Amino acid sequence: MTVTNTPAAPAGTGTPPPDTRRVDAYEKVTGKARYSADRVPEGVAYATFATARIGKGRVVRIDTSAATAVPGVLLVETTFGPDELRDVGFVMAGGHAVQSLQPLRDDHVAYRGQPIALVVADDLVAATEAARLITAEYRPEPFAVRIDAEGADTLLQERAIPLPFLADIKVGDADAAFEASPVRIAGTYEHPAQHAVPMEPHAGVVRWDGGRLIVDDSTQNANAVRFGLAAQLGLDPADVEVSSPYIGGGFGNKNALYGYLGPIAVASRRLGRPVKMALPRSQTFHNGSFRPNSVHTVRLGADENGRLLAAIHEVDQQTSRHDLFPCQATEVTSRLYAVPAFRGRQRLVRTDVQTPGFMRAPWESPAAFAFESAMDELACATGRDPVELRLANDAAVDPVTGLPFSGRHLAECLRRGAARFGWGERDPEPGSMIAEDGSILGWGVAAGCYPGSIVPVVAHVSAAEDGTVTVAAGGHEMGQGIRSAIALLVARDLGVPVSKVIVQVGDTRLVPQHLTAGSWGTASALPAVRAAVDELREALGVTAPGDVDIPAAVRATGRPVVTAEATTLAPGQTPQVLKQLDGGFLAYAGPVYPEFVTFSWVAHFVEVRIEPTTRRVRVPRVVSVTDCGRVASPVTAASQVRGAVVMGIGAALREESDVDDRFGGFLNPTLEEYPVPVNADVHRLEVEFIDEPDLLFNPLGVKGVGEVGMVGVAAAIANAVHHATGRRIRRLPIRLENVL
Ligand code: MOS
Repeated sequence: MTVTNTPAAPAGTGTPPPDTRRVDAYEKVTGKARYSADRVPEGVAYATFATARIGKGRVVRIDTSAATAVPGVLLVETTFGPDELRDVGFVMAGGHAVQSLQPLRDDHVAYRGQPIALVVADDLVAATEAARLITAEYRPEPFAVRIDAEGADTLLQERAIPLPFLADIKVGDADAAFEASPVRIAGTYEHPAQHAVPMEPHAGVVRWDGGRLIVDDSTQNANAVRFGLAAQLGLDPADVEVSSPYIGGGFGNKNALYGYLGPIAVASRRLGRPVKMALPRSQTFHNGSFRPNSVHTVRLGADENGRLLAAIHEVDQQTSRHDLFPCQATEVTSRLYAVPAFRGRQRLVRTDVQTPGFMRAPWESPAAFAFESAMDELACATGRDPVELRLANDAAVDPVTGLPFSGRHLAECLRRGAARFGWGERDPEPGSMIAEDGSILGWGVAAGCYPGSIVPVVAHVSAAEDGTVTVAAGGHEMGQGIRSAIALLVARDLGVPVSKVIVQVGDTRLVPQHLTAGSWGTASALPAVRAAVDELREALGVTAPGDVDIPAAVRATGRPVVTAEATTLAPGQTPQVLKQLDGGFLAYAGPVYPEFVTFSWVAHFVEVRIEPTTRRVRVPRVVSVTDCGRVASPVTAASQVRGAVVMGIGAALREESDVDDRFGGFLNPTLEEYPVPVNADVHRLEVEFIDEPDLLFNPLGVKGVGEVGMVGVAAAIANAVHHATGRRIRRLPIRLENVL
């Protein structure tokens, strides 16, 4: 794999100085970083689930006798009482749980793969063997796993969830403007369900210390786990502590309390032993959330030059029977271009699955696949170059609200990307570019954007006589590099070595831990850390900017440790919102703020090569230019974009969670059958940043980068496939049979 690493400007400085590296790299590659399942407390017992083998129905009889007889089995339980495991609502409906359905509460099976029994044993082999021996008789019921299946129930989102930010976006009379447009494009695009399959599966270890519950969980939302478990088990939240210092990939699907934690906490209390559960990979496909299947109809009206006059984007997105996982696809498609008339319509389709959820750019990536494919169709229809077409439709202000964008350098992303890619060499005629080895070349472009959100963060900073500066902040490290971003900020501000900065995240014992998602982690945490460092300077009596001799300054105070704390909010938020934070609820704001609208922006340029006999589609080269404000941590930011592009390649060419009307559930819940891109699928990824601070958004000028990097990748690949073959593929993933 050739990977070009292009950190932020100033470019060409050669080897980055040590302080621009990933600060926890050593811990991670040497195995010193302890992930939740790495914890093996004294006397720990191992738990696993037996799961339902029907698409929907009731458990009529369940036989656990063979399981109980397995040597080493400590507990087999099929049902917990209503007072043992109380209801915890869905995180997107004001609750704390990844879905409202808590398994093991009654005989109801809502979907294939739902847990029907918990087994705890001295070791994992015994637990797994016992779970396998559990047999059940069911009374099956009809079910729907496809959004077009009989029994799937379609709801208009704005009526089903009457919240202002989920209302359909309407600007002008888009239908009339579309009908009156000289050039009209219309197409329906389908994005499959997908699973994020992070390297580390969902995993937790629980233990009791008297009446206190101590939890290590792989979660992006330690607060939701803390408050959710307290509610579920009838505990005072003060008696629940949750720690999630490292996550082996989250991508959004570790965003709330999972249904395995309550049962193992009860089991742990009954057994008087710590209990661990790591979901086997196949179970993550039915007990982890997933990117729902969605169908997008896009209509674009334009003049003969391709200037947009109208856009209509209608989406049907899958949800579960028991929860409404919202859709926000049109939030981005209404903002990409200066379209004078826009109509969005988002519907939710109830199917018999676990509740879907977040997976990197959960709505934005499918939405951009549809919309940016349609833009490519418009370029073809008007004979305009796809880059020029996008530049001609650039927006000066937010077309939805009329407010200014706090920062928008999309045109610069397109220009720089085109130059770096060599776009000028492109022959627009499909199939006209042939490589030396006979492969057909296709070059495609697409733009993307991702909303800029901010959450309240509490940061606590302390300086010690030995020169160490310890920062505890709200935020979780899931591989994206929040520790590096915080450590670099503190090191630069105080002039101390990065090695002297200790960053503690994901720990409810220190400060509140709001969900880290929506690419808001860094932009939320850094302003709080900066404010806390300013407070620390006050406390140390060294307010003049410049380097601080920490040991001397601490000594001068006569105290061994000097501490400071600060809390920051999103623009427009009032301290009232801290009640949400302190209760473990969501408290994010954006992308629309009182005086501006914030998005991160990206342009992707993709080369595909189609081998002439096998028609295998390869992606030898991607150039991605991102506007994420100021780049806070060059190494981890570039890595975020590369990872996002890799996921985009997976979305475009590999990944689909298959369903079958006869069986229910997902058919391919293993890494053999759910192919994610591997090294052989990923070639040259060139990443570049605009690196212009967005100072309206926050004092550090930092915007999100983790998700925007995926938005538009699948579209750019599909557009490149069209350029190579003349075929417009409107359903992902694009497979061999689509280009034969
Ligand atoms: Mo991200 S899908 O919001 O963790």
